[in-house]
Amino acid sequence: MTGALPLDTVRTVADLRDRVRDWRKAGLRIGLVPTMGALHAGHVELVKRAVAGCDRTVVTLFVNPAQFGPSEDYAVYPRDEVRDAALVAAEGAGLLFAPGVEEVYPEGHSTKVHVGGLGDVLEGEFRPGFFTGVATVVTKLLLQSLPDEAFFGEKDYQQLQVIKKLIRDLDIPVTATGVPTVREADGLALSSRNAYLTAEERVQAPILHGTLAQVAEQVGRGVDPRMQEEWARGQLARAGFRQVDYVTVRDASTLEEAADASRPARVLAAAWLGKARLIDNVAV
Ligand code: PAF
Repeated sequence: MTGALPLDTVRTVADLRDRVRDWRKAGLRIGLVPTMGALHAGHVELVKRAVAGCDRTVVTLFVNPAQFGPSEDYAVYPRDEVRDAALVAAEGAGLLFAPGVEEVYPEGHSTKVHVGGLGDVLEGEFRPGFFTGVATVVTKLLLQSLPDEAFFGEKDYQQLQVIKKLIRDLDIPVTATGVPTVREADGLALSSRNAYLTAEERVQAPILHGTLAQVAEQVGRGVDPRMQEEWARGQLARAGFRQVDYVTVRDASTLEEAADASRPARVLAAAWLGKARLIDNVAV
């Protein structure tokens, strides 16, 4: 559905459920866009997709403490609910769910969702506990709002695969839809954390996407993925990335080492430029 609906904000699971129950009774198709706020054009694209394909769209705004490590940026993560609400309203979403930490994790909350295998590699290895935090909150948001379809950016490609897996494993009746990464004109993937780049680093940052695109092209032509990974590491180091956590060609759905050239593959990387840890991925 398109057109501007008035945007209500609810902060409790009870209010969210009341609202969704009425929509469901009316036979409306419900879309969910989970976010941590600090919305940019990538998030807006998710909301557009949801509004276009569903009768009502719920956007969630919750900076989830469970997915931040002790030395990560939870305390300083950008927050601006007024600005975010205006962006969401302009796209015609019907409801903003912006709970406080106590509402999502009340005193005594101790259940965690861990996606074994897929959630333990790559980002899971470099950010221990990250995917358990993501999987737990996304499971809760899905069960709280019971949408027909939920929308996630392909920028966080591994996260999307982890969420698809938990939906299958836990028989949650929802479709997870991946939405292509929105990029700046020079190729840099939009991310709330790009705000941490200095002016000089911002000029270097698109080299990450350019490098992954070259790897994808070469591997697509049959060049050995391991050789390409080596080349990409060197390329990023030469371009000023101070640390490359990983740059790797993986099976596009299991994220295991891409051994079978006939299956779809994905090139994924995480690398540090100054204080910013950038992640990106490209289809082979
Ligand atoms: O991608 C994000 O913004 C978050 O990981 C998500 C899916 C909203 C869960 O907190």
